[in-house]
Amino acid sequence: MRKILLIGIGPGDPDYLTVQAINALNRADVFFIPDKGAEKAELRQLREQICKRFITNADYRTVTIDIPKRDAHPEDYQATVDDWHARIAERYQSVLTESLPDGGCGAFLVWGDPSLYDSTMRILDRLQAQGSDIAYEIIPGITAVQALTARHRIPLNRIGQSVTITTGRKLGAAGQLTDDTIVVLLDGDETFAKIDARDVSIYWGANLGMDDEILVAGKLDEVASEIQRVRREARSAKGWIMDAYLLRSDGNE
Ligand SMILES: C[S@@+](CC[C@H](N)C(=O)[O-])C[C@H]1O[C@@H](n2cnc3c(N)ncnc32)[C@H](O)[C@@H]1O
Repeated sequence: MRKILLIGIGPGDPDYLTVQAINALNRADVFFIPDKGAEKAELRQLREQICKRFITNADYRTVTIDIPKRDAHPEDYQATVDDWHARIAERYQSVLTESLPDGGCGAFLVWGDPSLYDSTMRILDRLQAQGSDIAYEIIPGITAVQALTARHRIPLNRIGQSVTITTGRKLGAAGQLTDDTIVVLLDGDETFAKIDARDVSIYWGANLGMDDEILVAGKLDEVASEIQRVRREARSAKGWIMDAYLLRSDGNE
């Protein structure tokens, strides 16, 4: 049996790692580093820095796994993701078997927390369902949602109210707020600037926890174009950006 640790590393600042995550880093012999291409090389380097900083066992190895590309605008989203996961699972299976001996312990450093918009767990479930001899353990991490609310110094929920966590794609389809508070991740299309924006505040953050972090907050109709401007500027500076935002209808605290 091969053991795999899915270690949540937080959304950017190595100081976000928990003590449990640091202990888990020191249990693994091999670290699997998924590589999604040149534009995210900085994120791969950050994982390598985390290993260097926190691992005391000098004998650990890192193994890069090239991740196949996914169609960015598929006609059938679910089917395309399913096919993509099947291709990733195949890649994982061969790398895990080649690089990790039976009885060995490997780890994935998962951005933020493994439960939030991350498919590593699903892919390992897929491998287990196919009969692969792996067992996995989850080490929770700080999510981009927590980094966002902490940096803006706001509560996630209003008293007694619910919160929706969604994607830019889903928000765009709804066209408006569907809950008192909505947190939006994975929005490459600046959907905040396209929805019905009356009486809504936005708390936006890019590259949270990193050196080039940017925060903007205000009434959505007043700050949306400013967010678009700084977002585009930051994105063109390094070729990619990670941003998240919280939308809240104005009213009672
Ligand atoms: C694939 S999801 C992964 C979320 C991650 N598992 C977590 O727990 O935060 C990636 C999205 O999370 C958000 N995100 C992650 N890290 C971020 C950061 N440092 N600053 C702003 N947004 C971030 C962005 O919306 C990005 O598109």
